[in-house]
Amino acid sequence: MQSTDGSPPGVVVILGTGGTIAGTAANAASHVGYQAGVLGADALVAAVPALQGWPLEAETLARLDSCDMDHATWVRLADRAAFHLARPEVAGVVVTHGTDTLEETAYFLHRTVAPAKPLVLTAAMRPATALSPDGPQNLFDAVTVARAPGARGVLAVLGGVVHAGASLRKLHGYRVDAFGSGDEGPVALVEDGQVRTLRGWPAAPAHAAATRLGDAATWPVVDIVTSHAGARAASVDALVAAGARGLVIAGTGNGSVHAELSGAARRAQSAGVCVWRASRCLLGGVVGAPADALPSAGTLTPVQARVELLLELIAASR
Ligand code: SIN
Repeated sequence: MQSTDGSPPGVVVILGTGGTIAGTAANAASHVGYQAGVLGADALVAAVPALQGWPLEAETLARLDSCDMDHATWVRLADRAAFHLARPEVAGVVVTHGTDTLEETAYFLHRTVAPAKPLVLTAAMRPATALSPDGPQNLFDAVTVARAPGARGVLAVLGGVVHAGASLRKLHGYRVDAFGSGDEGPVALVEDGQVRTLRGWPAAPAHAAATRLGDAATWPVVDIVTSHAGARAASVDALVAAGARGLVIAGTGNGSVHAELSGAARRAQSAGVCVWRASRCLLGGVVGAPADALPSAGTLTPVQARVELLLELIAASR
């Protein structure tokens, strides 16, 4: 394949981290009874005949079920992606990942790598051994986006839809059509190998902490507490006692917080813990900020707010 100006296409580096896209099941009809993260990145590429002959490199960084994603893997992934993106011959990087924490990893990379080239995450809801796996098409589409002229930023490609990494949300636990872009809407579509843009490619500066992440084992602890009927102050108190330096409360509606948790949150603040409130609603975030309310995470989802608060605390601690 040639780029639009006829020059040789750039290399795309595929970084494998595991997930259902790399999962295998004993029974091809099973979409739930499988082991995630079995196959390496080479095997995922080999399963897509349409990619053969393209200038690709594949590297397996991890074989995780992404529900077990950890901060050390995030740092390795960000470092490796940044390394390859800085190579002049590389057009873009594709990360294969589990769907369960895809939006968290996407947001972390968005705030720490903030690339001027495409850094494209992809995943699958069905294991590689399924009768009709979604991984091979998603990988093909992700590589297509990584080579698309003008594409940039952290993106996620699933089901032919290109989401900005910072807008990505997992909306369904089983169906192939599992992701959305929230109120932002998708960035582009991939149709038969062609990328059709719908809005501008995402661009944002990296967080100040990005250059001083250091050893993830030294990062301040930031946890999430959900506000719900019958919420107990003890859940906040226990996390503070266990060393939390930051808390995100996933509030109800427009970020409202149960009185029990509010009281405990005030105690936590007095002890120097940084507490933010987000919304547990799928869309909309938190609008406005009453004077007496806890600091708002705005449009960030609770898991995104946790990453943002983590980076704030890392920056403040270095
Ligand atoms: C995972 O997140 O690693 C398992 C689930 C999936 O990829 O769909």
